[in-house]
Amino acid sequence: MERPTPLYLDNGATSYPKPDAVYDSMVSYMRGNGASPGRGNYARAMEADRLVYETRKAIAELLGVPRPGQVIFTCNATESINMALKGYLRQGDRVLTTGYEHNAVMRPLKKLEARRQVQVERIPCTAEGALDMTAAKAKLREGVRLLAVSHASNVIGCVTPLDEAVAAAHECGAAVLVDAAQTAGVCPIDVTAVPVDMLAFTGHKGLLGPTGTGGLYLRKGFELSTLKEGGTGGMSLSPFPPDDPPDRYEAGTMNISGIAGLHASVRYLLDIGVDAVRAHEAELTGLLLDGFESIPRLTYYGPRSAGRIGLVSFNIEGHDPHKVSMRLDRDYGIMVRSGLHCAPEAHRLLGTAPTGAVRASVGYFNQPSDIARLVGALGEIASRPPD
Ligand code: ALA
Repeated sequence: MERPTPLYLDNGATSYPKPDAVYDSMVSYMRGNGASPGRGNYARAMEADRLVYETRKAIAELLGVPRPGQVIFTCNATESINMALKGYLRQGDRVLTTGYEHNAVMRPLKKLEARRQVQVERIPCTAEGALDMTAAKAKLREGVRLLAVSHASNVIGCVTPLDEAVAAAHECGAAVLVDAAQTAGVCPIDVTAVPVDMLAFTGHKGLLGPTGTGGLYLRKGFELSTLKEGGTGGMSLSPFPPDDPPDRYEAGTMNISGIAGLHASVRYLLDIGVDAVRAHEAELTGLLLDGFESIPRLTYYGPRSAGRIGLVSFNIEGHDPHKVSMRLDRDYGIMVRSGLHCAPEAHRLLGTAPTGAVRASVGYFNQPSDIARLVGALGEIASRPPD
């Protein structure tokens, strides 16, 4: 049997395809430059350093960061979140979080519970991800030191009302860490207008860059203890890391080929505008929800509102989610992710643990016809007996 044309709908895991300029920029750096940034005074090394700076500058422009040096490069959002939590939290600190956090937040917190007796509390919320802000404010008043929240859930798709959460935290003296893994590049973010203290992002999802890239924004003057120490290309006589960001946090040779790709992808996003991405993905999500509502025995999760991102988790009554995704791939060429999505808390909230759900996630390069194809395939799967 002929294989159907592949259709990628797993952009919540990583975006695909990337803009052509991303591939070109990586190849151009690797073939035409190849030097280590910040580690030499010959022209190519300085060019590589310039590329890193220009990428910081482009990301700063995209996220409303006042100075490029406040953007620290990491290899992914998980590293950024580890850097933030382990660098900020002290013995016995209290942390407030949501019931839909990814393991990138929950597992470092679990370790800190054991190692530093950190106390982790949750804001009560509904299965649609609506946070009880009255309860959150009460907890914040009791002396919480950090509010750690996802900007959007990678399972439920709900978007956290950051302005309200940040204002409530700051009023009580708590700092705010935002996990923007699912929103950077697909939802407008302005860390000056909504003054978060730390914002973790990845380069390979909404920012349309390569895997192995990511970063942490740090508010000016907000200092962390370092997660790693080593060579930073300067101040080498000191046995300690430099005091100032970004060098303080970027020991070791960075992923410069990845950063070359990220530079091209962020420039691409600055050209088209995040608002255009958001509008396109909102249209596709609306079609997805309409289509899902037309399929008997299919239940989708999360809000039916504008306040969600372009991913929708669902189950078909009587069907195992893993088998549904395998069938979509095998019989229809459609790629989606099933299971717990590394976010068991979100699935507990939905009542879908331990099996999880199927998740379709759109990207900027998807079209309405892709959604029609998925909906048609799921309609057929739902009308037949399970595998
Ligand atoms: N956290 C990523 C996802 O949601 C990998 O699929």
